[in-house]
Amino acid sequence: MQSGQIKHNNTGRIGIINRYAKYLPVTKKTPVITLCEGNTPLIFASKISNTLGVNFKVYLKYEGLNPTGSFKDRGMTLAISKAKEEGMSAVICASTGNTSASAAAYAARANMKCVVVIPEGAIALGKLAQALIHNATVIAIKGNFDDALAIVREISDNYPVRLVNSINPNRIEGQKTASFEICDSLNGAPDFHCLPVGNAGNITAYWKGYKEYYSYKKIESLPVMLGFQAKGSAPIIKGKPIKNPKTIATAIKIGNPASWQQAIDARSESKGLIEAVSDNQILQAYKILAKEEGVFVEPASAASVAGLFMLNKTGYFDKYKTKTKEIRIVCTLTGHGLKDPEIAIKNIKTPKVVESKMQTILKAAGIK
Ligand code: F0G
Repeated sequence: MQSGQIKHNNTGRIGIINRYAKYLPVTKKTPVITLCEGNTPLIFASKISNTLGVNFKVYLKYEGLNPTGSFKDRGMTLAISKAKEEGMSAVICASTGNTSASAAAYAARANMKCVVVIPEGAIALGKLAQALIHNATVIAIKGNFDDALAIVREISDNYPVRLVNSINPNRIEGQKTASFEICDSLNGAPDFHCLPVGNAGNITAYWKGYKEYYSYKKIESLPVMLGFQAKGSAPIIKGKPIKNPKTIATAIKIGNPASWQQAIDARSESKGLIEAVSDNQILQAYKILAKEEGVFVEPASAASVAGLFMLNKTGYFDKYKTKTKEIRIVCTLTGHGLKDPEIAIKNIKTPKVVESKMQTILKAAGIK
């Protein structure tokens, strides 16, 4: 445990390493670099559940409530702690934004240099602000995420700087703890798990977590994994890399996912699916989550719920609508909506401007 850190009970926010050390590649010698990530809420979504049917229970794993506002913190606490343990003094990553925000924050805590390579003009403003304020060296390239990843892989292979993208196995190890938390909260595994797929590290991590909990007999079943890419960036569905991926969900604008094979394995081993959702479907789910469930996420995160709605519409869940057996579905909401306020404002009506008078305001507000 890091010096000065308060020891909480096992259900508090003690960080995923302290909470799940026995399932992670750490020893007493590992310096724990933590921001008390993890233990995010699993929120019951009553309205979304009702759209599926009376026996459906949909839960939202709100990963936007991690310290830097995304699920990346689970993997980053471990990747940075291990890099520190191994004597590294610098880390590097390519990013669509969230990885860079997380790497920058944890590197700052660890007194390590952090270099992030991002596609120019394709990062949500909040994420760029995070990387900069945490003092990372931010380099924007004239290229996309896939180009950036290829370059940082080569740099880390040849220079004394640790790669902290999800190709780093410690990232996957840390991120698998989200599955543990879900099973601990539900007292078992969900029936289905929906999540967005970009570089495919997270679906790999969740599936690893579920399989491990199953092998330790902590759960008695495994979920069906349902992954969703954005239609203009759907290499796994197309079966080939996409040269110029396109989507408003910039976090998952990726044409050649690093963990492609692992995502396919998760799909086939769990008898699941990886499908594509359109930007329109993503934006619709994005608005429903905010308007009806009170949960603000970034567009990429809404791909999980967009996928759930799409599968429901096409009859995928029909055979489970029996009214007898309860069907539990978890949707991971990977990042906070405040990361990308511009997209919210662009897609919603701007406020009415009126005179500063009570009667005018009452009328505009519809209060009689
Ligand atoms: N949702 C958000 C908000 C993300 O930032 C990412 C990935 C994903 C989903 C997809 O997860 O890559 O594990 O399949 N963001 C990376 C980044 C690529 O650089 O921040 P994945």
